[in-house]
Amino acid sequence: MAYTYESVVPWGRSFEEYVRMFNLSDADLRSRILSCADGPASFNAKMAERGHRVISCDPLYQFTGEQIRTRIDETYDNIIAQTHHNIEHFVWTTITSVDDLGRVRRAAMNDFLEDYEPGRSDGRYVAAELPTLPFEEGAFDLALCSHFLFLYSPILSLELHEKSIRSMCAAAAEVRIFPLLTYDSNLSPYVQPVVDGLKKSGRRVSIERVAYEFQKGGNEMLRIS
Ligand SMILES: C[S@@+](CC[C@H](N)C(=O)[O-])C[C@H]1O[C@@H](n2cnc3c(N)ncnc32)[C@H](O)[C@@H]1O
Repeated sequence: MAYTYESVVPWGRSFEEYVRMFNLSDADLRSRILSCADGPASFNAKMAERGHRVISCDPLYQFTGEQIRTRIDETYDNIIAQTHHNIEHFVWTTITSVDDLGRVRRAAMNDFLEDYEPGRSDGRYVAAELPTLPFEEGAFDLALCSHFLFLYSPILSLELHEKSIRSMCAAAAEVRIFPLLTYDSNLSPYVQPVVDGLKKSGRRVSIERVAYEFQKGGNEMLRIS
C-alpha cells in the first residue's frame, strides 16, 4: 500500500499514555530509545523537554510541519465522528468522553507540532518506513512501536510484521509492541505466529499486562529481548 499525503490520518498519543502502554520505568526513560511509527505522538517532544533524546521514525516525517498540521485539521472531525460511531469499543475511565479524547489527542499533537521542525533538524524525527530501518545494529537499548504493528493486521501482511520486528530487534536490545489487538478489537492473528517464530530463533518473548486500556481488551504488550 503506497504511503501518500492523502492516505495519512495523523493521530497521536501522549507521553503519559506511552509510559503506561509500555510500562516504562525511570531507567527505561534514561535509555537509548527508538520509537517506530511514532506519527504525531508527543512522546519524543516530552522526552526532549525532560532532557532525553528519543529517535522517532515514521514515513509521516517526509512531510513538513505545516503539511502535517493541515492534514490533522482535514481528518480530525472524521476520526471524532468514527469514534462516536464505535463508542462501545473503548473504555471511558481515564479518557472520559469523545470530547475529552479530542482534547487529549489535540494537546499531544500540538506538543508534537511545536517540537517537530527543530526536532527534525536535530535528527530526532527520521522519515523511515518499516519493515526497513536506517539505523546501525545495536544502536538502541529499546525499540517501541505503538498502534501500528498488529493494529493494522487486516491490511498488512504477516511477512511485513516479521520483517519489521526483525529490523527492530537488530536496532535495539529490547523491543516492545502495543497493542496486540487489531483496529476492530480482535486479537491479531499474527501474534501467535510472530511469538512462535521469535522463540524458534532463540529470542526471549513475553506478553505482559500493562496499566493502560483504552481500546477494550487492549491492555497487553509484547516484549522481545
Ligand atoms: C495510529 S498511528 C500511531 C501513532 C503513534 N505511534 C501513537 O501511538 O500515537 C500509526 C502510524 O503508523 C505510521 N506508519 C504507516 N505505515 C508505516 C510504516 N510502513 N512504517 C512505519 N510507520 C508507519 C503512520 O504514519 C502513523 O503515524
